[in-house]
Amino acid sequence: MQASGHPSLLHFAAVNVPRYTSYPTAPHFNARIGSERYAAWLSALPADATLSLYLHVPFCAELCLYCGCNTKAVRKREPVDRYLRSLIAEIELTASHLGSRRVAHLHWGGGTPSTLGESGFQTVMDRLARLFDLTELREHAIEIDPRHANPSLAGTLARLGVNRASFGAQDFSPEVQRAIGRVQPFEVVRRCIDAFRNAGIDGINIDLMYGLPRQSAASVALNADLAASLQPGRIALFGYAHVPWLKKNQRLIDAALLPGHEDRLAQARIAENVLTGHGYRAIGLDHFADPCDPLAIAAEGGKLHRNFQGYTADQADALIGFGASAISRTPSGYAQNASDTAGYERAIAASRLPTAKGIELTADDTLRGLIIERLLCDLRVDLGALAPSEAFRSEISALRPFVDAGLVAINGGQVVILEAGRSFARLIAATFDAYLPANQTRHSAAV
Ligand SMILES: C[S@@+](CC[C@H](N)C(=O)[O-])C[C@H]1O[C@@H](n2cnc3c(N)ncnc32)[C@H](O)[C@@H]1O
Ligand code: SF4
Repeated sequence: MQASGHPSLLHFAAVNVPRYTSYPTAPHFNARIGSERYAAWLSALPADATLSLYLHVPFCAELCLYCGCNTKAVRKREPVDRYLRSLIAEIELTASHLGSRRVAHLHWGGGTPSTLGESGFQTVMDRLARLFDLTELREHAIEIDPRHANPSLAGTLARLGVNRASFGAQDFSPEVQRAIGRVQPFEVVRRCIDAFRNAGIDGINIDLMYGLPRQSAASVALNADLAASLQPGRIALFGYAHVPWLKKNQRLIDAALLPGHEDRLAQARIAENVLTGHGYRAIGLDHFADPCDPLAIAAEGGKLHRNFQGYTADQADALIGFGASAISRTPSGYAQNASDTAGYERAIAASRLPTAKGIELTADDTLRGLIIERLLCDLRVDLGALAPSEAFRSEISALRPFVDAGLVAINGGQVVILEAGRSFARLIAATFDAYLPANQTRHSAAV
């Protein structure tokens, strides 16, 4: 569908909404949740609870201008070694509170995890293996910057059990790469992926972006084609979130070169057409997966989940985050570590869990979180199965404009996001966000 043929679609695309990697979203976390409360949540986990571990590495060799992640540029080894020591101490401290040690999923994110170096990974994995039960580990994933990886690193990671790697490609055109401060020829990405496959890591993901400076629908389509030619199991297509009021590095991006809402919509649509044309299944709002990939299989079976890394087949009962800014989720609530590395390291040095804020979940939070997650994962939710029929009357009427624009169908208690509404799924799901009105302008555009 052409956005230009539908004025209301452009209006929808311009609204600012959260990405809903959690509900309530991080701006609603508060400082009443600290180390003690988080420790009590950890102890309350039953002994047979399955865990997903996330390890955050907030360092990069240099900063890409578009980057929205919690990271900083480092040149020296010393801050990395200090951070490694804190990470190990945090793992020990957390394990001492945990009711369960059964790990099903492990994810290294950042920043650029390879900054830790091969011996750094080895040290952390030795400690994890000593303190946790890794025998049921199904997915062990890592984010890789293709400019900073080589066959030796791939071999070490494979030996440590890594079985999935996400490669940050973003865009393959030299013109766009210069505009985003990340020069990385296609050959570099291809060689890096080959090295990981040769080492035996065959879960391959590629990250692409649209909405970047100097991108056009034609260039985004070419990126999608080139990414598909590398035959990854998964491709993520993130819409560039331009939030220069939060991210100083983004102030160096010339806003005049950014595509407008109509162009962004066209870029998202054309990439989707190219990728589905190559046989990929569209998953949720921004992922694509080979039909045989576990993500596509989970989506097919209604078992897809959404967490801070995006879409996942991970079904663990709790997510335990390690490192500066890492967020944990237990059935009781969310807890986030201090975002600045200095504050994080100070807490660890004082033998305190570095929790800085979080939120305790009410029954209403849990219910709305489930509705938003199902809408973003399955593009549908059966409200009737979750709550009394009158409970969401005002939300159902607030969905009317989406129904009128042909993006949503409502049938009794069933809310279905139609294919034309996929790009607007965050905005549609936001109808169920009880916290939103006070804070809307702090997020990025819906498409
Ligand atoms: C932590 S980074 C990936 C790992 C590695 N540092 C790299 O860049 O190759 C995770 C992904 O987030 C996406 N990303 C980063 N900043 C973004 C932004 N402002 N808006 C949307 N996506 C963004 C990029 O696609 C990036 O590959
Ligand atoms: S996109 Fe990746 S490499 Fe670039 S600054 Fe962000 S985390 Fe670092």
